[in-house]
Amino acid sequence: MFITFEGSDGSGKTTQVPQLVEFLCEKGCRVFQTREPGGTPIGDQIRTVLHDLKNKGMHAHTEILLYAASRAQLVAQEIQPRLAAGEIVICDRYADSTLAYQGYGRGLDLTVLRTILNFATGGLQPNLTLYLDLSPAEGLRRRQQAAQSGAEWNRMDAQSLEFYERVYAGYQTLIAADPARWVTISANGERDTVQTQIRAVVAARLGL
Ligand code: TYD
Repeated sequence: MFITFEGSDGSGKTTQVPQLVEFLCEKGCRVFQTREPGGTPIGDQIRTVLHDLKNKGMHAHTEILLYAASRAQLVAQEIQPRLAAGEIVICDRYADSTLAYQGYGRGLDLTVLRTILNFATGGLQPNLTLYLDLSPAEGLRRRQQAAQSGAEWNRMDAQSLEFYERVYAGYQTLIAADPARWVTISANGERDTVQTQIRAVVAARLGL
């Protein structure tokens, strides 16, 4: 079972994913948790380049190829072997982020992106994708607040609100095109309420 989390920046994936992993481990599941970009030593080096505020001049084609490079390494080194060994793999962001951010956000050709994604992942698709739904304006507000308390403010955080609105609309299009794979959960509620909903969806899928 390959489960991915998607959503706008600030939607709380990074808080929710470890809590889901804890729940599944308590149920006796073998779970591997990872994130993108990064998740491998090579991928983490690529992540540093992608997030560095000094790299404002990065061309959109360079950006997509770096995300794809990080993902290719993660799929080959971690995700595929663990799925083959029967583990549940949970990934904070995956190929849909590229379609949403580089495709709908930056306006890159979706057909070209899908070809690159297919090459990078060997065609590996998640069985289930949980979308944490938060408005772009609220996401920006939460991230600015977190940054004031010392959280990372990276090159992707520094995009305009209009960019995040295109990303948001892009996710809605992706969800509508493949409703069997996606489950939308409102990220507006309290953390615990969001986690309860996530656990219920995953438990039902896994028959726990
Ligand atoms: P990160 O700090 O991991 O944010 P979050 O906790 O919200 O996931 O930063 C990841 C950033 O990279 C985020 O702004 C989304 C962006 N991104 C892309 O633009 N394309 C991609 O393919 C991926 C995986 C991420």
